[in-house]
Amino acid sequence: MEEKFKKLDELRKQAKLGGGEKRIENQHKKGKLTARERIELLVDKGSFDELDMFVKHRSNEFGLDKQKYLGDGVITGFGRINGRPVAVFSQDFTVFGGSLSETHAEKICKIMDLAMKIGVPVIGLNDSGGARIQEGVISLGGYADIFLRNTLASGVIPQISAILGPCAGGAVYSPAITDFIFMVKNTSHMFVTGPNVVKTVTHEEVTFEDLGGADTHSSKSGVAHFAFNSEIEVLQNIRKMMDYLPLNWKDKSPEKDFDFSKDLSVQKLDTIIPETPTKPYDMKEVIKLLLDDGNFFEIHKDFAENLIVGFGRIGGMAIGVVANQPAVLAGVLDINSSVKGARFVRFCDAFNIPLLVLEDVPGFLPGTDQEWNGIIRHGSKLLFAFSEATVPKVTVITRKAYGGAYDVMNSKHIRGDFNYAWPSAEIAVMGPKGAVEIIFKKEIKEAENPEEKLEQKLSEFIETFANPYIAAERGFVDDVIKPSETRIKLINAFQLLKTKVDTNPKKKHTTIPL
Ligand code: HXC
Repeated sequence: MEEKFKKLDELRKQAKLGGGEKRIENQHKKGKLTARERIELLVDKGSFDELDMFVKHRSNEFGLDKQKYLGDGVITGFGRINGRPVAVFSQDFTVFGGSLSETHAEKICKIMDLAMKIGVPVIGLNDSGGARIQEGVISLGGYADIFLRNTLASGVIPQISAILGPCAGGAVYSPAITDFIFMVKNTSHMFVTGPNVVKTVTHEEVTFEDLGGADTHSSKSGVAHFAFNSEIEVLQNIRKMMDYLPLNWKDKSPEKDFDFSKDLSVQKLDTIIPETPTKPYDMKEVIKLLLDDGNFFEIHKDFAENLIVGFGRIGGMAIGVVANQPAVLAGVLDINSSVKGARFVRFCDAFNIPLLVLEDVPGFLPGTDQEWNGIIRHGSKLLFAFSEATVPKVTVITRKAYGGAYDVMNSKHIRGDFNYAWPSAEIAVMGPKGAVEIIFKKEIKEAENPEEKLEQKLSEFIETFANPYIAAERGFVDDVIKPSETRIKLINAFQLLKTKVDTNPKKKHTTIPL
């Protein structure tokens, strides 16, 4: 028996060396961790159970029969994050550049299939040169097997991708289908075609980092939800985010103990809205004052900053926050912010995460750029997402709620459960100036002193419409509350809504305007 144990130990040792010490050294020289080091940092200490450590590729082309590495370039298995189970795959760049072979794909598919049956999230740590060139179409088939599983798992279990090295060509579409993408600055890149092909086709000169680095994708394209300075930060933040997520679509996010007996009023909120309606303020401050311990886990922080989305807790319950940001573009809704918001709302709805909406929106952004690029098509996604969401949904109108954006931002009419407004709320078809100039155009033009007339009509309009009471009279807002009372109102609302049941009509699936 001892001999057999010895053989097993030797094989394990060999597998753990991946592509060998020299390549591990190269990986470290590039400022990257190895696939195994990453797993150690991601999951709870000692919790990882590896599968398929002894798998080898089956290819004999181009001398591959003489190069076989145990595990074939990917480490797969199950571990725990803060005590809760997750499936993990981690591509090993030291073995054929982490490239995807038939067996490498089979290993990933195996844990994905099991994760779906058990109902646990899948976290993919990507670091790969793409399809294993020597395996040709077999490798492409392997990718497609993963894409199919990513799609079938969507909305069933959370799927998280970390890009920790190259991720190019069609390979990008596996992370792209998953729910969240984390990237590292300088050492991770995602693109459909690299700088050389770009140069040949479009004659553009662009660096790897500019074309598909973490900053580009987290701020310009919106492909990545997070960009961090180091792999360690990426892995720590995945752990952090997991605390807000359920394990699957039937599960609920973990709740934290909460002391309901303490004073829940927040006096500071009473002075946060500026006297002048056009003056901006930072909605992130409002969010932090409303959430437990001021902890806000922001998503897509640097992309479409006029809309803020992220996770937090209120009364111990995990919630998703969607908030207009008056400090950026006056909080207007445009193409990018609509798409960003819609995707987040749909994620929360798929995974039973209640939604809090903080509204201060002057409307949709006008202009040819927006119209020609489809603000109608993209704006409808946010409206659609809020309308179809059946999770608990609470809105607080802090200031402006104008035009179509009033309807879109989880209004009562599209199934907002509790809709509150602060006394500073202005709810109308459009801003006072635009409105007065349209409906009193003739009167103002014909007045002896048009400017004086405009001012007079403006103050009449503000007096009549720029307040929350007409909406409250109709029951479109359920109550007008002081900002300092908001936290307690929200805690009560979300506690009450815990048992909410709502459904959508039966269908195969919607035809959301993509
Ligand atoms: C097989 C590969 C490989 C690949 C890298 N290697 N990519 N082996 N198939 N796709 C191997 C190298 O031969 C080398 O082996 C080791 O991995 C490390 O590669 P280096 O080039 O030395 O590393 P580096 O300089 O860091 O460059 C990394 C790289 C580059 C940028 C990823 O290797 C590269 O451009 N690879 C090809 C990328 C590519 O075009 N892939 C196909 C994309 S299309 P040794 O033995 O020396 O360690 C695609 C289609 C997917 O993936 C379609 C899905 C539908």
